[in-house]
Amino acid sequence: MSFNTKPSTTVYVCTNLRMSGSSCANRKSKEVLKALQARADARALVGGPLVAVRPSVCMGYCGDGPNIKIMGGEFFHGVRLEDVDTVLDEAENVAGD
Ligand code: FES
Repeated sequence: MSFNTKPSTTVYVCTNLRMSGSSCANRKSKEVLKALQARADARALVGGPLVAVRPSVCMGYCGDGPNIKIMGGEFFHGVRLEDVDTVLDEAENVAGD
């Protein structure tokens, strides 16, 4: 039996906190990051592709956060906890390409 541990794609979540003005961290991006990591792991355990979810530095769209970039895929703005499966659906589509 073998198990592929190489991620098929990576999702980057901006967790930057700016001292003034709006930023992803003060729009709950760290909660979104944790939810994405947990859900990605759960989906991989039942046969989905491995999707790595990593924190990121500022992406330059601070007023529209939380911002998420899927490598080779979509750029999401204003992501909320209830959007986690939508982001992972897209990440899995990229992984399957
Ligand atoms: S703080 Fe997230 S894009 Fe700048």
